Amino acid sequence: MMNNMKKSALFRKLIKEKNIVKLIGAHNGFTAKLGEMAGFGAIWASGFEISSAHCLPDANILSMSEVLHVADGINKSVNIPVIADCDSGFGDINNVIHLVKCFEDRGIAGICMEDKLFPKINSFVERKQSLAGISDFCEKILAAKDAKKDENFFIIARTEALIVTAGLDEALNRANSYVKAGADAILIHSKENTPNEIYQFCDRFQRKVPIFIVPTTYSSVKANELIQKNINAVIYANHGIRAIHKTLQKTYKNILESNSTSVIEDKISTMKEI
Ligand code: SPV
Ligand code: MG
Repeated sequence: MMNNMKKSALFRKLIKEKNIVKLIGAHNGFTAKLGEMAGFGAIWASGFEISSAHCLPDANILSMSEVLHVADGINKSVNIPVIADCDSGFGDINNVIHLVKCFEDRGIAGICMEDKLFPKINSFVERKQSLAGISDFCEKILAAKDAKKDENFFIIARTEALIVTAGLDEALNRANSYVKAGADAILIHSKENTPNEIYQFCDRFQRKVPIFIVPTTYSSVKANELIQKNINAVIYANHGIRAIHKTLQKTYKNILESNSTSVIEDKISTMKEI
């Protein structure tokens, strides 16, 4: 907690007051702490990163309790708010009610739920991605709102309409329905390599709640451009684990090839630093 303020209240304050809030993906306390030290405003407990860190695909193989355990560890390691990626809610509305109670109880600032069917698969996997019915997903949002005790606990509704190429009208229709059901923010996801469809969405969305984006595929976009489009939060969801993946591959190969660790000493952090 900062200034005795709960992290959920702090997150709301950041979203309200900052031009843009930058979240960094993490999969444990260590990676989250580095994100905090670098200056990010909040942590995204990423389903992709957490699954990958368990050597599993991002496909709802880990249970809700396993993800909760990791998010709790992350939250205990940092003083900034943590938003937990809760995929499509780990089941139906009964699972959603349970998860909201559990994550809120651990002091997580908020959750994000996406409108895909359980079990979900990562948005960038070239395989059939099925959307939930609008009213079914609205029921999940209503259930989540009803289950929370802390009024500041933040519920982000993510639409995957553009991911399944259902079109802008479908994305807008879904986002508006989720706002009516009580979502605190909309995350609009895209797999295009430019932000054009995201900007079209922003121009047409009746802005009653903040907009979150995840520019994994349109990575050249700059934060000041997003601010001009009144995007409230940007999630750099998976860059930590991707950096680790490449660095470890190179480092381990170097150790074996040179039969020593001396060649990499100047490329890695010191024991003291860690
Ligand atoms: C995650 O980090 O798990 C996300 C974002 O949901 S993405 O992988 O870009 O879909
Ligand atoms: Mg995810």
